[in-house]
Amino acid sequence: MDNRGRCLFLYLTLLYLEFWFIIAVSGGTGEGFISIDCGQENSYEDPITGLSYVSDSDYIDTGENHKIPTDTKARDKQGYHLRSFPNGTRNCYRLQVVKDKKYLIRASFLYANYDGLNRLPQFDLYLDINLWKSIKFKVTIFYFTEILAFASRKWMFVCLVNIDLGTPFISSLELRPLDDDMYPLVMPNQTSVFFRRINIQPIKNEILRYPNDIYDRKWMPHISKYMETLSTALYIAPCIGCKYPASSDVLQTCGVPVANGSTINITQHWPFLNNNIRFRKIAFIIHYAEIESPPINDESRSYYLSTNTWNKPSGSYNYPSYLKSGSRYNTKPWSSTSDIFNFVLHKADNSTHPPILIEAMMEIKEFYKLNKNWQGRDPCAPKNFVWERVECNSNSSITSLNLASNGLYGEISTSLINLKQLKSLNLANNNLHGIIPDFLAKMPNLQFLNLSGNNLTGLIPIDLQQKPNLTLSVEGNPKLCYKLDECERNSSKKTVIAIFAVIFFL
Ligand SMILES: *[C@@H]1O[C@H](CO)[C@@H](O)[C@H](O)[C@H]1NC(C)=O
Ligand SMILES: *[C@@H]1O[C@H](CO)[C@@H](O)[C@H](O)[C@H]1NC(C)=O
Ligand SMILES: *[C@@H]1O[C@H](CO)[C@@H](O)[C@H](O)[C@H]1NC(C)=O
Ligand SMILES: *[C@@H]1O[C@H](CO)[C@@H](O)[C@H](O)[C@H]1NC(C)=O
Ligand SMILES: *[C@@H]1O[C@H](CO)[C@@H](O)[C@H](O)[C@H]1NC(C)=O
Ligand SMILES: *[C@@H]1O[C@H](CO)[C@@H](O)[C@H](O)[C@H]1NC(C)=O
Ligand SMILES: *[C@@H]1O[C@H](CO)[C@@H](O)[C@H](O)[C@H]1NC(C)=O
Ligand SMILES: *[C@@H]1O[C@H](CO)[C@@H](O)[C@H](O)[C@H]1NC(C)=O
Ligand SMILES: *[C@@H]1O[C@H](CO)[C@@H](O)[C@H](O)[C@H]1NC(C)=O
Ligand SMILES: *[C@@H]1O[C@H](CO)[C@@H](O)[C@H](O)[C@H]1NC(C)=O
Repeated sequence: MDNRGRCLFLYLTLLYLEFWFIIAVSGGTGEGFISIDCGQENSYEDPITGLSYVSDSDYIDTGENHKIPTDTKARDKQGYHLRSFPNGTRNCYRLQVVKDKKYLIRASFLYANYDGLNRLPQFDLYLDINLWKSIKFKVTIFYFTEILAFASRKWMFVCLVNIDLGTPFISSLELRPLDDDMYPLVMPNQTSVFFRRINIQPIKNEILRYPNDIYDRKWMPHISKYMETLSTALYIAPCIGCKYPASSDVLQTCGVPVANGSTINITQHWPFLNNNIRFRKIAFIIHYAEIESPPINDESRSYYLSTNTWNKPSGSYNYPSYLKSGSRYNTKPWSSTSDIFNFVLHKADNSTHPPILIEAMMEIKEFYKLNKNWQGRDPCAPKNFVWERVECNSNSSITSLNLASNGLYGEISTSLINLKQLKSLNLANNNLHGIIPDFLAKMPNLQFLNLSGNNLTGLIPIDLQQKPNLTLSVEGNPKLCYKLDECERNSSKKTVIAIFAVIFFL
């Protein structure tokens, strides 16, 4: 019952998530912004990013050039050529970088049976003397891995190491300098290998990168049936001087739980390869932004965060203001011995409660077979699209409902009881019958109640008659009474008539 109808959409504009694990390494060296198409002989401008790619011949002396079969389509142009290393255990690219700068380095691989052996090779990838990643493909896709490293010297070496499980190869190598303030966990003695960077619920199921992300980070689409997409076309100012800036394009779409959800649960499998389990540590960043206009009440958009590496949830955390973004991250990487990493964002209990309102409103609509344009996730927001004949306060609670002259037929719906902030209820000039329910007297904020022009019967609840500050209109309901004895007289008469009737028909 607790969670019934609770939705997060207004509060949980979780947008994208970035997390990686940390391995201890010593830094490399160098200078520049480098895009290398391995095995390619010519330079060209990449059709997707507009970036200039160059041949790898100036960066390495060993290995041989190959093309993938002509009938194979690669997602990126860099997939069509590759360099393989049949000879030597260790073959290294030499990359000139700027000393004391941080870099994102990305290596990509598309096997596509270029050697006709139909055997996916396994090999190790090193940055300088430190293992970056054990490369092991499950299928032949355009696979990439990223590492963040601090350049302690003028050179960085990216090396492919043969482990006797096939010929190492590489399709492209990219270096992207980062701002000094970014990724504070990247230090001379500490390098971070990206585990996954995901863009949650993008509109297009595509990787987002340069020029949308000025650092050319690749954001992988994450689309889940448990979430729906919220989006805005408006620019979301990136956080200036932030440790973890996210691009506006990433922030413009977000995932919210479908229907009744109050949680977002994101689970990533994070298998152990031959990285030593004891050294694996994890850091994460969650980016979020407020993209619903106008925000109901900044303070009320809050959430708790828990992961399977924490025992209890942290928070609650509030959302930033409209079209602003924020992020949450761990300042110290955690050790983790699980091969699953799971994030759960749960709506904070003190958030406002439009879902209950929606449910109540839908019940009212259903109850009276109303033909109202009551659509969307919240009766109250955004303000320009507040539901017909509904008024709300700044807390996104319904304060006024005017259903006068709407042909309502039936009794007074008990669903109204859920509209706790209701101040004004106008049900005049309908076809309501039955009694006036007691709960109206208990509605704490009710100040105006117009039931006139209906066909209501019986005693007007005494509590309602005496409710302080209530303006009550009941005229035009001939069968209502103010005092119990009046009602009893009239109803006993009815009883007599009924008995007559029964006898008559017998
Ligand atoms: C790297 O150095 C910082 C201090 O400069 C220290 O806090 C951190 O633990 C070191 N990391 C490793 C992996 O030794
Ligand atoms: C690999 O070694 C073989 C035999 O030593 C040699 O013929 C071949 O040219 C070498 N290939 C490369 C790419 O160095
Ligand atoms: C809430 O969930 C129940 C069952 O899971 C479903 O029947 C109902 O339609 C949902 N309500 C909304 C508003 O989505
Ligand atoms: C989140 O999803 C994972 C995997 O589906 C599950 O093991 C976990 O219990 C879920 N957590 C919550 C709070 O729903
Ligand atoms: C919700 O509670 C948290 C602390 O538990 C508080 O920081 C936040 O301001 C509260 N929000 C509202 C709307 O009361
Ligand atoms: C909004 O909610 C807060 C906290 O529940 C309350 O103090 C405030 O009076 C409410 N504002 C309105 C307009 O009802
Ligand atoms: C209640 O509604 C009736 C019918 O529309 C109207 O005549 C009457 O003035 C209303 N009462 C108040 C107090 O506004
Ligand atoms: C009121 O209800 C009675 C039956 O209880 C019905 O005969 C009458 O037509 C109704 N009046 C209106 C105005 O709907
Ligand atoms: C409502 O009634 C209370 C007493 O019950 C009174 O103090 C208050 O001023 C009244 N408010 C209005 C708006 O009339
Ligand atoms: C009760 O009946 C009397 C006479 O039939 C009538 O005048 C009065 O208005 C009725 N009271 C109510 C509340 O129906």
